[in-house]
Amino acid sequence: MQPAEAFTHPPFELGNNPLEEYTREYCASIFSGEAGQKLHITPEASQWMTNHIVDYVARPMDAMTRDMMIGKIVHTYHVVKAIVMIAENMPHHPWDLQQVALAGMGHDITRFDQAYDQATFKERADSLWRHAHKGAEMMENAPLSITPESRRAIVHAIDKHSDKTYDGEEWLAKLLRDADKLALLAEFAQIGDIDVKSYTDGPPSRGELPENAYNDFFKGNLVDNGHTETYGDVMIRYLSWMNGLYFPETRRILAETNILERIAEKLTDYYPDDPFVQKNYPEILDQIVQFKKEAPQAA
Ligand SMILES: [Fe+2]
Repeated sequence: MQPAEAFTHPPFELGNNPLEEYTREYCASIFSGEAGQKLHITPEASQWMTNHIVDYVARPMDAMTRDMMIGKIVHTYHVVKAIVMIAENMPHHPWDLQQVALAGMGHDITRFDQAYDQATFKERADSLWRHAHKGAEMMENAPLSITPESRRAIVHAIDKHSDKTYDGEEWLAKLLRDADKLALLAEFAQIGDIDVKSYTDGPPSRGELPENAYNDFFKGNLVDNGHTETYGDVMIRYLSWMNGLYFPETRRILAETNILERIAEKLTDYYPDDPFVQKNYPEILDQIVQFKKEAPQAA
C-alpha cells in the first residue's frame, strides 16, 4: 500500500437509503471480503465491529451525532490501513498481522457509545468517560477466538492508545499510537472528513492561540490536550505529533505525504489575521522541513 492511497475511503453516500442497512453494507465493503482480506481483518472481527456499529446507528439520534459516528467508521478504516501499512513496512518484525489489524479495528469501538451518550468526543481531565478504558474493557470480553496473550496485548494497546504519553515497552501499543496519529493527521489535512468541532468546545475561529501551545510545539514537545480550546490549538497539537512517533517507518510514511504542509496551510486559512500565526508560520514550516529531512528514506 502506498501512503497516498492509505487514507482514502469509499464515500459514505446515504442518499435515501435506510441508515442501518446502508451502514451494514458500507462496513461490509470496507471491513470484509477482498478489502478485509487485504487488511488482515478476520471475518469474525469484521462481524463483531459491524454489529456494534449498526447497534448504535440504529438508535434515534440527531444529524450531528450520526455524522460523528460515520466519521468514526471512516477513522477506524484509516487506522486499520495505517497500522497494517506500518507493520508491513517492518517485515523483519514478527508481527501477527491479524492481531495488528484487530487492535486498529477495536481501538475506538466505544466512540459510538460515547457519541450516543455524550454527543461529544471531548474527555475532560475530570471526566469518568474514557473511551480508551471502556474500549479495553470491551475487548477483554469480546467474543473473539484469539489467544489470551494476544487479547491481553490488544487490551493494553487500546487502553493506552490515547494517553498523552506512553512509558511502556509494548510494541503493539506503540504501533497503535503511531497509526492513530498518522490517520488523524491525514484526516485533519482533509478537514471535512471529520468534524473538528466535535473535538473542541470553542467556535472554530476564535482567533487566539495560547502561546504555551506554540512554545511546546517549538521545543519539539507534544502539545497538551488541555491547551486545545480552538480549532487552531487542535492543529498545533496535531502537528506536534510528528515529534512523538515511535517507528522510523511511521515517520517515513508521513514524510512521503504532504499531510503536515496541508495542516499548516489550514492554520493560515483559518486564522488569517492572527498575529501568533503570522509570526510563527515560517517557523512551523521550518519544523516540517526539518522533520522531512530527518525522516528515514525508502530503501
Ligand atoms: Fe481513540
